[in-house]
Amino acid sequence: MDNNAVLEGQRALVTGASSGIGKSIALGLAGAGAKVVVNYRAGGDKAAQVVEEIKDSGGEAFAIQADVSSESEVQEMFRQAVQAWGSIDILVNNAGVQKDAPFHEMTLEQWNAALAVDLTGQFLCSREAVREFKRRGMVPQISRALGKIIAISSVHDTIPWAGHANYTAAKGGVKMLMKSIAQELAPEHIRVNAISPGAIKTDINKSVWGTPEGMEGLLKLVPAGRIGEVEDIAKAVVWLASDESDYMTGETLYIDGGMMLYPSFRTGG
Ligand SMILES: NC(=O)c1ccc[n+]([C@@H]2O[C@H](COP(=O)([O-])OP(=O)(O)OC[C@H]3O[C@@H](n4cnc5c(N)ncnc54)[C@H](OP(=O)(O)O)[C@@H]3O)[C@@H](O)[C@H]2O)c1
Repeated sequence: MDNNAVLEGQRALVTGASSGIGKSIALGLAGAGAKVVVNYRAGGDKAAQVVEEIKDSGGEAFAIQADVSSESEVQEMFRQAVQAWGSIDILVNNAGVQKDAPFHEMTLEQWNAALAVDLTGQFLCSREAVREFKRRGMVPQISRALGKIIAISSVHDTIPWAGHANYTAAKGGVKMLMKSIAQELAPEHIRVNAISPGAIKTDINKSVWGTPEGMEGLLKLVPAGRIGEVEDIAKAVVWLASDESDYMTGETLYIDGGMMLYPSFRTGG
């Protein structure tokens, strides 16, 4: 099989694709032959650059501004995507934020802001995608699946994280949202999976890897001894979006250099 064309003819929507992991996913899907909607909220210039990069490599893409936590904006985004390309075959729920605070100081605003983007955003986008998959119906020459949803979660859907109770609650919620809709939709050949990254070098955690002390502390948590690159995640998304993973649904891939392996037990315990 020509791996460069594994998603030929498919149409993908990637939320939060203006930077970091989402940008790399958009480039990866386009590199595999998919047309890509580059969603963003604030970074219009950066989203336009991602679109240009895809077009320069011979792909097709356009950007849509929408806040994934707004029902009306998400519905309008899907309407525009379907109007442009006829349907959507792949949704990647990547948009995410951190609103960190010690628990006793966490405001309701910080709590709600993280839950709204990181969990409710995944619900709203997944629901619109599933409605579209069902409306379109099966197209066997495009994919064995009616549609594919990939949730970008985090190792913190499992590892507790002091000072980030809102983020971990949201990511833990993503894990069970993903599994429940995977169970519900498997008979209709809609596949729903998640990727839980460990530490990946992006803006979201620059304050940690951006200093030598921060990087040193981080690497103690990663048995593989390096921080992850955005491409480590994008490659797995392409595989999960393709028919190569057709028998897989309701699963989480932890891509974390071994962060989930209780690294302190290598020398302790
Ligand atoms: N980096 C890591 O180590 C790591 C580890 C585990 C999980 N993750 C997860 O990976 C995902 C991507 O994170 P990242 O590291 O790539 O961070 P990032 O560089 O800060 O990117 C976050 C993206 O989300 C978008 N976004 C934020 N709020 C949005 C909203 N309401 N509606 C639409 N888009 C919105 C941002 O778009 P604008 O800038 O245009 O607003 C941006 O493109 C997140 O879900 C994060 O939790 C990251």
